[in-house]
Amino acid sequence: MANVTFSSPLMPRDLTVYAVAGERGTLLALAKANNIPIPFDCGDGECGSCLVEVRHYQPGVRYGIALTEKEKEMLRQLGKITREEIMDAEVNDMPPRHRLACQCFVRNEDIEVRFEGDVTKP
Ligand code: FES
Repeated sequence: MANVTFSSPLMPRDLTVYAVAGERGTLLALAKANNIPIPFDCGDGECGSCLVEVRHYQPGVRYGIALTEKEKEMLRQLGKITREEIMDAEVNDMPPRHRLACQCFVRNEDIEVRFEGDVTKP
């Protein structure tokens, strides 16, 4: 069981969703299923519109992930990943602070997901 709390200026209040571990859904799919307005366009890591910031409530239980080249490149283009985070992802499989919701799978960990809106549009 994972508690995923969505937070955004686009929402009247934060919303916590209980996701069942093992469903292997993405954050974007979870948001869509719960009418949470994370912007999205391509759904495939190509446009960057689903950018979110992920905070772990228990940093000690962060799961390792294999950040794909596509997501890494998009985060780089958006200026949302640091050189240190790239290194940490490549060497230690640790996720960066910002993710693409369409590429980020829900794991058995409690997280806060913050989003502002579509950063690719003015
Ligand atoms: Fe386009 Fe996620 S919806 S990158």
